[in-house]
Amino acid sequence: RKPPSRKGSMMDVPRDLLDQIKWLEEQFYIPTEKLKQITNHFIHELEKGLSVKGGSIPMNPTWVMNYPTGHETGTFLALDMGGTNLRVCEIRLPEAKGEFDIIQSKYKMPEELRTGTSEELWEYIADCLQQFLDYHHEGEKLHHELPLGFTFSYPATQDYINHGVLQRWTKGFDIDGVEGKDVVPLFEAALHKRGVPIKLTALINDTTGTLVASGYTDDQMKIGCIFGTGCNAAYFENCGSVPKLAHMNLDPEMPIAINCEWGAFDNEHVVLPLTQFDHTVDQESPRPGQQAFEKMIAGLYLGEIFRLVLVHLHETGHVFEGQDISKLKKAYTLDSSFLSLIEEDPFENLSETADLFLNRLSIRPTQPELELVRRLSELIGTRAARLSACGVAAICKKKNIKSCHVGADGSVFNKYPHFKARGATALREILDWPADLKEDPIDIRAAEDGSGVGAALIAALTLERVSAGNL
Ligand code: GLC
Repeated sequence: RKPPSRKGSMMDVPRDLLDQIKWLEEQFYIPTEKLKQITNHFIHELEKGLSVKGGSIPMNPTWVMNYPTGHETGTFLALDMGGTNLRVCEIRLPEAKGEFDIIQSKYKMPEELRTGTSEELWEYIADCLQQFLDYHHEGEKLHHELPLGFTFSYPATQDYINHGVLQRWTKGFDIDGVEGKDVVPLFEAALHKRGVPIKLTALINDTTGTLVASGYTDDQMKIGCIFGTGCNAAYFENCGSVPKLAHMNLDPEMPIAINCEWGAFDNEHVVLPLTQFDHTVDQESPRPGQQAFEKMIAGLYLGEIFRLVLVHLHETGHVFEGQDISKLKKAYTLDSSFLSLIEEDPFENLSETADLFLNRLSIRPTQPELELVRRLSELIGTRAARLSACGVAAICKKKNIKSCHVGADGSVFNKYPHFKARGATALREILDWPADLKEDPIDIRAAEDGSGVGAALIAALTLERVSAGNL
């Protein structure tokens, strides 16, 4: 059901709330010129990240050196440690390019693990892998260790593909004793303790997995993006265009996937139009001063920004007068799905939004307040989509890509209403495409399963490379 236009309904909103809505629009709406300015600064920062001196965007070389050819075969395990779930897959790559055979199990990552100890984290992951093997290979004697592609979606520097030193936790994780360490020995120690017959072949990022998995089925794919709990992208550079790899004397024409870690864009707050609410999200996060871009876009933060605005409007006497807002006062009590539901409310009187507020927050908004809440969700969702487009445009402009497909995955891209269309509009504005183009030359579309199939493909590519005696 297409939500009806809400423009008419604003007529009944009293002056004071209209002023607040106008103020919110000024805070959250990013005009075209600003998007262009952000994109230009972004290009500069991508380049800085590739330089020897480096910048705030890490631009991590991943040692994924090419797209799959379609001849990759074998059976691989894939482990995905994203922000919210842990997923284990077993993937059989077909002899010739075709359907993948996948079995998978999902495990909820207990909330406490995010801020627990390093040991608890690795033990939990090893337990899930063991359970998976016990269940799917019950009674079988495994004759060799199964190769594993581990999707570890946090910034990690890699000297080899089967190692990775965690630079810093993102997405609300805060586990002592892992930052600055190679995560692979920590992970393998937990496996060995249990005698789990698995060999880590490749440690990858979800964006790199997305790039490779999507490239397998679509040769126009040039960028892999995640818009989910976190937000990031990967693309291929030639080694010769990566000054920080110059000391390794690699073939300058050889491609290498770069995990941008663009969530860290503009940590210095030079160009992003941060509101007071963005500053609060940052200051109250476990890592203030980091992931500035991500904190305005990613699913983990959208509900929190929304919540902070409403608390502010209540405290300044504009909404929910005389109501108990104690539930709304709890940090991170709303996730981005709450905003999705509001944006999807198909009723003219926003009755589903009213129910949501009552059931989840014990608040009864007035009709004009419901209008404000709807507009606020649109503003936050639109800002996220428009900012995302700046990152995509920056990579395309830097690489002089005029047309390509961008593979995108993650809960915000897949589930947040209008995210894709709003991002596409912003891309048209930034890149000045003529209004009468039939098709967008750069098209952000749903990706293949990066952290499952992508991880398996990268593990297969790595084994091929190792057996050919290359890097
Ligand atoms: C965060 C992580 C990054 C990941 C992204 C999407 O930005 O640092 O590695 O790709 O979230 O999951």
